[in-house]
Amino acid sequence: MFFFSARAASGALPSALLAIVATLFSGPTTAAGTDLSSVLAGQVNMTIFSGLVKDYPDVFSKLSGVTIAAPNDNAFRKLGNWESMAANKPLIEARLKYHILAREVTMGSVIRGDSIFSPTLLNDPAFSNVTNGQQLILTKQPNGDVVFTSGFATRGTVLVEDLKFDGGLVQIIDSVMRVPEPLQSTARDAYTDLTAFLGALYATGLIDEFTDAANLTIFAPHNAAFQLLAGAFSDMGAEQIKRILSYHLVPGKVVHSWEMKVNDALDSSITDKKLHVQRNANSIFINSAQIIQADILLSNGVVQMIDNVLSPDSDNAKPNVTATAQNPVFTPKGATETGSAAPTPFITQLPCTVSCPVSQPTGGAGTGGGAAGEAGVRSTSSKGGVPAARCTGMAGAGLGFGLAVGALVVAL
Ligand SMILES: *[C@@H]1O[C@H](CO)[C@@H](O)[C@H](O)[C@H]1NC(C)=O
Ligand SMILES: *[C@@H]1O[C@H](CO)[C@@H](O)[C@H](O)[C@H]1NC(C)=O
Ligand SMILES: *[C@@H]1O[C@H](CO)[C@@H](O)[C@H](O)[C@H]1NC(C)=O
Ligand SMILES: *[C@@H]1O[C@H](CO)[C@@H](O)[C@H](O)[C@H]1NC(C)=O
Repeated sequence: MFFFSARAASGALPSALLAIVATLFSGPTTAAGTDLSSVLAGQVNMTIFSGLVKDYPDVFSKLSGVTIAAPNDNAFRKLGNWESMAANKPLIEARLKYHILAREVTMGSVIRGDSIFSPTLLNDPAFSNVTNGQQLILTKQPNGDVVFTSGFATRGTVLVEDLKFDGGLVQIIDSVMRVPEPLQSTARDAYTDLTAFLGALYATGLIDEFTDAANLTIFAPHNAAFQLLAGAFSDMGAEQIKRILSYHLVPGKVVHSWEMKVNDALDSSITDKKLHVQRNANSIFINSAQIIQADILLSNGVVQMIDNVLSPDSDNAKPNVTATAQNPVFTPKGATETGSAAPTPFITQLPCTVSCPVSQPTGGAGTGGGAAGEAGVRSTSSKGGVPAARCTGMAGAGLGFGLAVGALVVAL
């Protein structure tokens, strides 16, 4: 009961916390001090989460062998819109389940250079289209901190480690974890270096194939890779671009970085065309492209960000594992051609957002190298032209996942 005296000494207890402490003193409690509420009551600045534990007994009352990533009060305040979100019970319930790892993970067991991927209790199909439930990733930083990574580039640092309760462990974190979202909002608003890839999927009518199916692995080249090939894409026909993009998808299988072994061959969505895995120390290569950001979590799978566009016709390309950058498998025609930065192709193909209510991708004059290719693709798109206006930003907010999160990302 040492924490009660510690609290008493600190003087200024929030009233909700006092109420919890009061009930603990007054009523008979089973296994006093080890149930979740008691353990949280022993910690400062956990008022909001303690309230949620009380309000959501279906989520918290029968836990066993789990690890709870419990955000502190400041983490909820950082969301800005917490009070309005709190009204939506089904969404809060899903979000809370995402904060519960389905196993006990002590912070000492997280080894530097070897992230732990753990399923959570969130496997409601409305939020999770991946086998065994949505995951959280735990990583040890050089300074010894352990960081949880969730969807939408949202990370939280562990502030208080390994608090034991009768259902497992509690780790107190400084940010609220965000349930992984589909590719559209994730690429557009959280990982903006993927906007050319996303725009290309809209332009070719492939977007649904990359977002409506379950258990996907997507190898997504970053914007610079598209920019380098701006001229090359403008020389290609729509079907050719479509075929190239389809090669970046592994349907029906979520492959995290730790699951990729040397000489693995993954089935792309193009018949008989595989994607070949190579590794060197901590570097992972797909054909000759290197993964530059691994394991971006989506509602329906995972994105591996790569440094070059892949080609189904260069599926035997091998990386030079000692080089700092890999050569493109297409002939660069864009940025290097002019010696100046060419406009990044396909970005103008993104549908509207709240801030651009009219869906009218610009093309032709003024948008340079990529525009001709985009126009060509657009006119023969399987969707019959320009994708309909869709306010993806609003869709995200409507699902109650929260506000734009850029400002909340903990600098690593
Ligand atoms: C608790 O929250 C208050 C107000 O945000 C802050 O000043 C204090 O440092 C926090 N205490 C701890 C131990 O985090
Ligand atoms: C894909 O994920 C769903 C949902 O978790 C699961 O039910 C299904 O078996 C998975 N399909 C494949 C092909 O792995
Ligand atoms: C899950 O995948 C199915 C198709 O397999 C799709 O109809 C559904 O909308 C997806 N759900 C989510 C939340 O992405
Ligand atoms: C691989 O890259 C290194 C370093 O840039 C270079 O010295 C070497 O010649 C390259 N090897 C091949 C086969 O291109």
